[in-house]
Amino acid sequence: MKNIVILISGGGSNMAAIIRCAQRESWLESFGARVAAVISNRADAGGLALAREHRIATDVVDHRRFATREAFDTELSVAIERHQPSLVVLAGFMRILTPQFVQRYQGRLLNIHPSLLPAFPGLHTHQRAIDAGCRFAGATVHQVTPELDHGPILERAVVPVLPDDTAETLAARVLVQEHQIYPRAIAALLPGLSGCAP
Ligand code: GAR
Repeated sequence: MKNIVILISGGGSNMAAIIRCAQRESWLESFGARVAAVISNRADAGGLALAREHRIATDVVDHRRFATREAFDTELSVAIERHQPSLVVLAGFMRILTPQFVQRYQGRLLNIHPSLLPAFPGLHTHQRAIDAGCRFAGATVHQVTPELDHGPILERAVVPVLPDDTAETLAARVLVQEHQIYPRAIAALLPGLSGCAP
């Protein structure tokens, strides 16, 4: 079995797009792959309820309970390991991860970032793209490496920046594309992943 563990902090629309795609494309039958768990650092993350509706295991590891990033990441790893992951998918997971955590999952840790990396790593990507006068913006799916929002690129989507765009309208246009490219990038990796005993 190839278990996918998704980490979220908020609404989880990318998570939902991945779950929908897994069902539509029968990832279980085709690749022996399933979304095994959704883990959040926030108990109020909207995506948790949706995951439960799909009978997917959920867990919360509240970062505020830990004095250091290392302690949080250690506990996060414990929660992830319960599900024997082949792939760990960051989907709007708004925590900076320690190098130790990243190294542990290197090669099977993915992120989606709402900019055309390497442009605009970090936060407020859409406002920064507008302020810089960019005519195009977008999103990037990449392998996670210890440097924030870097790492080998798997998929990218490009959208126009329109003259009257606000950060919100641009974000909404980009998000539609995120929901296309993230499931596609994951599906492309599934045949090559190793799994655990079912
Ligand atoms: C998405 O736009 C994602 O690209 C972004 O957060 C949003 C989460 O939305 N991620 C980052 O900014 C990571 N640095 P969602 O919870 O609806 O999927």
